[in-house]
Amino acid sequence: MKKHFIVVAIDGGAASGKSSTSRLLAERYRLMHVDTGSHYRALTFALLKQGLTAESEGIADALASVDIGTSVDGNRARITVASRVPEESDIRSAEVNAAVSLFAAIPAVRSKLLSYQRSQEQVARAHGFSGLIMEGRDIGSVVFPNADFRFFLEADPEKRAQRRAAEGLQDSIAQRDAIDRSRKTAPLVCPTGAERVDTGTIDLETVVAFIGKKLEAVK
Ligand code: CDP
Repeated sequence: MKKHFIVVAIDGGAASGKSSTSRLLAERYRLMHVDTGSHYRALTFALLKQGLTAESEGIADALASVDIGTSVDGNRARITVASRVPEESDIRSAEVNAAVSLFAAIPAVRSKLLSYQRSQEQVARAHGFSGLIMEGRDIGSVVFPNADFRFFLEADPEKRAQRRAAEGLQDSIAQRDAIDRSRKTAPLVCPTGAERVDTGTIDLETVVAFIGKKLEAVK
């Protein structure tokens, strides 16, 4: 592993294997893992709870009153809302799955999270991690365009739908991907210079070993 602090960007569509891959890499290489999808989910849940929809007026004002912070638990940094880590069952509910891409397309939502996400590098350094591994849709393109490593995970849509169903979750991933790809601000793209990894045809351990080798190669 490189001596200096590294930033690893993992992007990809819904259920492309970003979380499992990032979690294992974080453990193996002492990286702080940040799942930015959970940030969009947490804000979506908070705004839905206030009775807002993505079409509502006053989203920017409502956002200003949502106080976000960070709780580091092992290798993972989680977003807090009003000093509490949101429940997984709340942020991964069918309601949030259906609304999250619509809220994530709103520039005020993205700009609040962009500065928050960039600040995670400092959190990782302060906690003594060897680097930061951040997963999402716009990490290598917008959040950390100068990341030391950029990977774009993909798998055919049928395989991804099967994964989500196996987790027992109700989620229309094709619809979310379509909204995420077509939005104006920070759309889902394969970042320039990113290495594409097909997680549909190779298993998790092979994906992790492949990326791990790249990280180690710059020792
Ligand atoms: O787990 P899965 O890959 O299905 O989704 P997620 O990573 O939890 O992300 C949920 C949603 O948040 C995505 O469908 C996007 O609308 C949004 N998102 C985003 O816009 N930008 C990111 N960097 C991460 C997530």
